[in-house]
Amino acid sequence: MSEQQVVFTNDICQALADFTSGIGHDKLFILFDETTRQLCLPVLQPFIDGYEAGHAGRKVTHIGIPATDESKTVESLTLVWSGLSANGATRHSLLINVGGGMVTDLGGFAAATFKRGIHFINVATTLLGAVDAAVGGKTGINLGNLKNEVGAFAPADAVLISTRFFETLDQKNLLSGYAEMLKHGLLSEREALAKLLDYDIQHWENATLLPLLEYSVNVKREVVRQDPFEKGLRKALNLGHTFGHAFETFAMKSHQPVLHGYAVAWGLVCELIMSQQQCGFPSEVLYEIAHYVRDNYGPMQFTCDDYDTLIELMRHDKKNEGDAINFTLMESIGQPSLNHSADKEEIGVVLDIYRDLMGI
Ligand code: GLY
Repeated sequence: MSEQQVVFTNDICQALADFTSGIGHDKLFILFDETTRQLCLPVLQPFIDGYEAGHAGRKVTHIGIPATDESKTVESLTLVWSGLSANGATRHSLLINVGGGMVTDLGGFAAATFKRGIHFINVATTLLGAVDAAVGGKTGINLGNLKNEVGAFAPADAVLISTRFFETLDQKNLLSGYAEMLKHGLLSEREALAKLLDYDIQHWENATLLPLLEYSVNVKREVVRQDPFEKGLRKALNLGHTFGHAFETFAMKSHQPVLHGYAVAWGLVCELIMSQQQCGFPSEVLYEIAHYVRDNYGPMQFTCDDYDTLIELMRHDKKNEGDAINFTLMESIGQPSLNHSADKEEIGVVLDIYRDLMGI
């Protein structure tokens, strides 16, 4: 898989002008969801106007899909394919995906499959999208309740990140992205994690968040560079996600949906508890993370009556092989330990300790 260019910029219109002129194409398409059409299109309008003026009236075709992760469906994908096809896209057309993870995953998959693959650029508009989904070449859609069930590895030609878009995010969406940054901190080194834990994300500012964000994205890029197709090391990026996905689905089925990053934050606490038990992960770091998560994300609410349901959800995780539930654990900060499994009793103990640490 070719390495992705990732650009952090305060001038997103200039960055788009540079990249679109560097990628030979015949027609330009731009994909938004309802939210990004409203909040981000005005920011990109000078680029669109400049492009049309500079290309002798060649129009930029807009394609719209509904917002939210529930829209990451084959129906929305068909909208994108049809939007491309009906407006004369060829194998040499270029698609710009503007949005959070839903848009970049779905738009990336549409681009990877339309006429067997066209060039695309991701413009990440959420913190979660910038640190995770937009980078690394995973694209795909959900199938019913099954997240990212159908997809392809297909790197964007470029990923453009501007913190300017984050100004429209509410605090919960920022915290959601920040959980993936904590994960990257755990996978890198003590000093990086300490900076994240010290940073006051409740009162974030562009200038101070940007270096943390750049560092975090580079942690992910380095892992992807070494293992683009998740044969081994890339599984480290699943830290927090076996419990996390179970929490996310449990919350959705209980009609109290939670943001992905919240579920990951709670999942990180559980998987560090398991790491402490199975791999000797240092207790003091576990407590630091648990307290940070409790204070900033609050606890995921469940009782011991819910354990069987949560374990059943973990059994359906697509990272599993055979009957065993697969966990990415940590020996210490920066030292992931892959392909662990745990039985029902061991998972029950983790959930007991989690409830204790989170005070529920
Ligand atoms: N979200 C984890 C990965 O990209 O591998």
